[in-house]
Amino acid sequence: MNRIEAKALSKSYTNGAGTLDVLKEVSLSVREKEFIAIQGPSGAGKSTLLHILGGLDRPDSGNVFFDGADIYGLSENERAAFRNKRAGFVFQFYHLLPELTVLENVLLPALIKSWGERKQAAPYAHKLLERLGLSLRLEHRPSELSGGEQQRAAVARALINKPLVLFCDEPTGNLDSENGDNLLGLLKQLNTENQLTIVLVTHDADIAKTADRVIHIKDGSVVN
Ligand SMILES: Nc1ncnc2c1ncn2[C@@H]1O[C@H](COP(=O)(O)OP(=O)(O)OP(=O)(O)O)[C@@H](O)[C@H]1O
Ligand SMILES: [Mg+2]
Repeated sequence: MNRIEAKALSKSYTNGAGTLDVLKEVSLSVREKEFIAIQGPSGAGKSTLLHILGGLDRPDSGNVFFDGADIYGLSENERAAFRNKRAGFVFQFYHLLPELTVLENVLLPALIKSWGERKQAAPYAHKLLERLGLSLRLEHRPSELSGGEQQRAAVARALINKPLVLFCDEPTGNLDSENGDNLLGLLKQLNTENQLTIVLVTHDADIAKTADRVIHIKDGSVVN
């Protein structure tokens, strides 16, 4: 079954220099439990596509169906709730809040959920952080962590609400090769052992090899 079905997504930006067609009628689907990589050169439109697939950025035209529901047919509030519950995001530069500890950063998305669901979040955060090798870093601030540790904390934060899909934009882009390999191994494990669907953007062909399937994007279109 398809978890995500994107139909004819288009997105343009207009400024003084003219109009830039970033995505041109891109269609693709992602099956449940699939690990797909979106690969392509810089400026190809990969991040734009990932944001649209994850409900972060509205396309000019086209639709994204998530488990059959048209996410851009939802109101802003409904789409925010959808993202909070169904989608996790991991970015190149971690985006942890510097004033909060690792544990607090991880718990943040859970605070937005209902009280009943929130109560279970703390034990789950501990469990996730233990699995990600951060048990001894719970009370550290992000600035006291290595890059690899910060990214693993960001993965825990993305997973706290048990999303169906993890959207990753160059998650290893700021890590050395050892930490990058570790993170990729971890993502692969989450995919195979926890049946997590993963959509990962990268410009790196070697990283894309970890995926079940690679979608190549060039100049805003899917190419074979
Ligand atoms: N908000 C925006 N306003 C104007 N142009 C934008 C905006 N966001 C992206 N673009 C342009 O759209 C094009 C695609 O951007 P995008 O970030 O999707 O590329 P990318 O494939 O992720 O590149 P990279 O590998 O460098 O991250 C780029 O030329 C970029 O400059
Ligand atoms: Mg990008």
